[in-house]
Amino acid sequence: MSENLLEVKNLHVAFFQDGKLADVVRDVSFEIKPNETLGLVGESGSGKSVTSKAIMRLIADPPGKITGGSVMMDGMDIFALPEKKMREIRGGRIAMIFQEPLTSLNPLFTCGSQISEAIRLHKKCSKKEAEEQAVEMLRLVGVPSPERRAKAYPHELSGGMRQRVMIAMALSCKPSLLIADEPTTALDPTIQAQILRLIHDLQKLNGMSLLLITHDMGIVAENCDRVAVMYAGEILEIADVSTIFHSPMHPYTKGLLKAIPKMNEKVERLYNIDGMVPGFNELPKGCAFSSRCPYCKDDCASTPQRLEYVSAGHQVRCKYCRNLEQEA
Ligand SMILES: Nc1ncnc2c1ncn2[C@@H]1O[C@H](COP(=O)(O)OP(=O)(O)OP(=O)(O)O)[C@@H](O)[C@H]1O
Ligand SMILES: [Mg+2]
Repeated sequence: MSENLLEVKNLHVAFFQDGKLADVVRDVSFEIKPNETLGLVGESGSGKSVTSKAIMRLIADPPGKITGGSVMMDGMDIFALPEKKMREIRGGRIAMIFQEPLTSLNPLFTCGSQISEAIRLHKKCSKKEAEEQAVEMLRLVGVPSPERRAKAYPHELSGGMRQRVMIAMALSCKPSLLIADEPTTALDPTIQAQILRLIHDLQKLNGMSLLLITHDMGIVAENCDRVAVMYAGEILEIADVSTIFHSPMHPYTKGLLKAIPKMNEKVERLYNIDGMVPGFNELPKGCAFSSRCPYCKDDCASTPQRLEYVSAGHQVRCKYCRNLEQEA
């Protein structure tokens, strides 16, 4: 039996764009251990949400298609499961907090009834029991006057409260894996911190693994055990959080970290990585970052790079990464 709760191996996802299939997620592999938090970071459009939806088998086909790879959860081959079994797992063993809370809550039903429906979908219990549990969940996620809030419709709540309702719904069946896709991006910083703390506390309480998707390196530093850095559909580096921040090896990760302003440091101008992310239909055969890489060599754009171990627990998709220090 593997020590990992989740194993994503060589995942490929394509989408129809301008009449052609574009490979928007390529060769993505990572593992998550029980109780661990893995951060998935990368710029907008790098494939974070597509990767997480593929894990839940929520890629609409068409326009999308999972074109390769496997996802193992608790020893189960997710892509081989019948849809009925998958529905039990979704919201049961794996729950997801989506990037868009308003679109994930149904405006026509009260918050309480949506949570109790989710509970009844996965657990045998009476309507009344489920309603009581829904109120308990709202209390647990810090919603004041939960009995009253359970009767409210989504539009009657503030953004922060709606996000808590989403979390209550996601956690109501005590999942072993929570996928949180930018759970706090739309919220102000104080509420952001509160919600992340809440997820963290519930993770400790229930013993749960977390895939935390964000483009905020501050959130990564405070919340994650390990980090996977995505760029244009590929993972370019994976390591524990301290290695990523103190000794990153991929030129892209180095650039990402330079782009963060530091406290007590006078910033003349924010560092920017030169150039733009290439479109999925104009990617080079080799390294996706080669067109922007300050260390790019003659063969980088033409030779595909593999994600390889540079030390225990540290993988990098750049065969030149060991020699960069001398060049800097
Ligand atoms: N429904 C769709 N139809 C066509 N292309 C899509 C669709 N959904 C995603 N894509 C493509 O997949 C790429 C990756 O999208 P994804 O939503 O995973 O990015 P992301 O990393 O989550 O970005 P963000 O930080 O903005 O949420 C996008 O650039 C887009 O080209
Ligand atoms: Mg996204």
